[in-house]
Amino acid sequence: MHKLFEKIVDIAMYLILLVQMLYVFTGNVAHELLGMGLFVCLVIHCIQKRWWFRSLFSGSCTAKSVERKVFDVITILLFISIISLMFSSMGVSRTLFPWFDILGYVSLHRYLATAVLSLGAAHGMMHFVMRTQKKKRAIFIMIVAVGASLAIGLSLVPYLNRHAKKVEIHLTDAVYGEKTGWNGNNALIVYFTRVGNTDFAEDVDAVSGASLMVADGELVGSNELLAMMMSDITGLETRAITVTGKRYPSDYDDTVSVAGAEKREAARPDIEPLDISGYDDIILIYPLWWGDIPMPVATFFEQNDWTGKNVYLIASQGSSGFAASTETIKGLAVGANVTEVMSIYCEDIPDARQSLLEWVRKPKAE
Ligand SMILES: Cc1cc2nc3c(=O)[nH]c(=O)nc-3n(C[C@H](O)[C@H](O)[C@H](O)COP(=O)(O)O)c2cc1C
Repeated sequence: MHKLFEKIVDIAMYLILLVQMLYVFTGNVAHELLGMGLFVCLVIHCIQKRWWFRSLFSGSCTAKSVERKVFDVITILLFISIISLMFSSMGVSRTLFPWFDILGYVSLHRYLATAVLSLGAAHGMMHFVMRTQKKKRAIFIMIVAVGASLAIGLSLVPYLNRHAKKVEIHLTDAVYGEKTGWNGNNALIVYFTRVGNTDFAEDVDAVSGASLMVADGELVGSNELLAMMMSDITGLETRAITVTGKRYPSDYDDTVSVAGAEKREAARPDIEPLDISGYDDIILIYPLWWGDIPMPVATFFEQNDWTGKNVYLIASQGSSGFAASTETIKGLAVGANVTEVMSIYCEDIPDARQSLLEWVRKPKAE
């Protein structure tokens, strides 16, 4: 009975972690609550296996078999990864620990989760390897389990995030709130988004693809949402960079291919004229495409005279920070003072308002 309970706790931990990695389907609240469940299971597991902690420091090291030494190394690495994952979970938490702001990097959190899943598989399978006579078969199964765990964390989860994601938000929660004036010069918010430059199906439910957000039943671009937040905070006007003549394909992968070809050819897609001559400060909100600005944004830069302007950059991305975009913009906006403001991970966009508000409050260039 005792052994059965131990097994149930072990399997529950692995399953909870797997479900948690499907964040794209569970959403944030369930993800964080499951994390607490995992923590409880882990405490029970450590109490059940307290003999292992004692055995680590008792007995001579040379007396241990090779298998036992491998098991100990894997378990120590797993333990370190779990502790780090716990801290990073609190760092990225938005519901249970919003006040904890250490290790709040989503990519780090993902890598740690992958490490725990893979080391957890190795740790569980090592028990099997140590007990069985059919060592080769057990080691083979262990390698397959670790490989599958790595593939889930490094390929499947990012793939699902890119292809199966449709986030539903309410504008009242995400966009509207505390306001503060713009404490710089005469300013305009300019943004580019895939959504505004793509002919998606009328029916939101028929649309699938990455970085799609549905706000009160309407499809909204991530960068458009950031522009709306910024406008609500500052009271400034927003203008979209809109391509003319052609639209981007509604399929995500096709857009990635088209954008890749545009970047290779240094294309300058036609856009609706967007004159910024009456403004001193431009807050530019754009997605990273192929580690750089989308080519219609390059057209926008080349259409205008940037001498003496302040350009504030807010990028959104799936992992790349600002990548090459800042250097590209500095090269295009000749005579402008270009400042990186923040690069926002796409999943964090619905919650970005507070960070934008805090930045707006800071003093700006004259
Ligand atoms: C064509 C294309 C290329 C992209 N390239 C990158 C990239 O190189 N690095 C990155 O971190 N994210 C990349 N992304 C992800 C977008 O930057 C991210 O999803 C962004 O928030 C989308 O904003 P939007 O919905 O307003 O268009 C790419 C997305 C698309 C559509």
